[in-house]
Amino acid sequence: VAFSPQDVEARRWLCERLSEVGLEAGTDCYGNVLGTWPGVQRAALIGSHTDTVPRGGWLDGALGVIYGLEAARVIREDRPDRSIGVDVISFQDEEGTYLPCLGSKSFCGLLQSGEIEAARSVSGEPLSDALGRAGFKGEPFRARPDRHIAFLEAHIEQGPRLISSGTRVGVVTSFVGIRRMTVSARGRADHAGTTPMTMRRDAAAPLFRFAAWVSEHFAAAGGPDTVWNIGKFAVEPGAANVVPSGAQLTLEFRDSDPDLLDRLEAAVYEHLQQLARETDISIEAQATARIPPARTTETVSDVIAVAARDNGCEPLLMQSGAGHDCMILGKSMPTGMMFIPSIGGRSHDIDEDTDERDIVFGCQVMVNAVERLLMT
Ligand code: GLV
Ligand code: MN
Ligand code: MN
Repeated sequence: VAFSPQDVEARRWLCERLSEVGLEAGTDCYGNVLGTWPGVQRAALIGSHTDTVPRGGWLDGALGVIYGLEAARVIREDRPDRSIGVDVISFQDEEGTYLPCLGSKSFCGLLQSGEIEAARSVSGEPLSDALGRAGFKGEPFRARPDRHIAFLEAHIEQGPRLISSGTRVGVVTSFVGIRRMTVSARGRADHAGTTPMTMRRDAAAPLFRFAAWVSEHFAAAGGPDTVWNIGKFAVEPGAANVVPSGAQLTLEFRDSDPDLLDRLEAAVYEHLQQLARETDISIEAQATARIPPARTTETVSDVIAVAARDNGCEPLLMQSGAGHDCMILGKSMPTGMMFIPSIGGRSHDIDEDTDERDIVFGCQVMVNAVERLLMT
């Protein structure tokens, strides 16, 4: 996960690999890793993220970074003197351990003032502490529209569509919007055997009711593709015989319609206020991420699709239900994204995997797409 000792080591490791293929490599103060093709004014930018989720698998997002490394390696080996090069990037904290898409937002100049100071992990560690611990140095890397002709990201699909249709490459046309919030309740700890039910100020009780309401309300008021998740629920002090004095949950929901996301978010706040009134428990909700829906660039998608066809695969055009750095990069330059199949559609778990032949095939398509892009 972002800023863990393993993350820091992986980013140093990546700098060495990028240097080996002839790129000028370094990290910035957030831990973004950038390999720059020397001696050129223009370059395609290829990459993804090397941080992951707790107990995450080995492919989400390292795959896209290694494809970038491999594209740079073979294209340099083939024509080191070319006028348009290949830069490779690994963004920091795409998964939002502290701040979703921290690295790509910084890269595109989209961090709001106060965002770094406010960001915390679910265990409450401030991002500023994690930055200090990790010790990355250097000015933030910035997107360079004068240099970067396009950003290309490869990723596992993390869902079942490619594997179940027997298609080896997906071309992403759009991304869903994402809302994330933390809901905290404060009550009073008491003896759970001796305190009458009517006298308790149980902080967890309204949040359990809230969780049940979320499933019902989102199913009724959401669209056919709306998804939602309560991914963390913590109760304090967390003992069988103590009435909870505190409770906290994270709610995330996604859809491609920003107006629907607004309506769902407003309904959440309204319902929480009602629960607080009914239970006399203080409840606070804090939005921790609002990522708008986004689209990729048609001309870049076409280049990926042609590369897939050249390799004998008719690609599936698809919407991404997952968030990716690519949706942030779209604010700064043309973007394209390709998916390869996930076995069983599984991801965000250590069981995530892809057939090695599909990994190699996808890399071939990516390298051919980059070669095509450099010719345009
Ligand atoms: C990233 O994996 C996300 O969609 O949250
Ligand atoms: Mn992920
Ligand atoms: Mn990812």
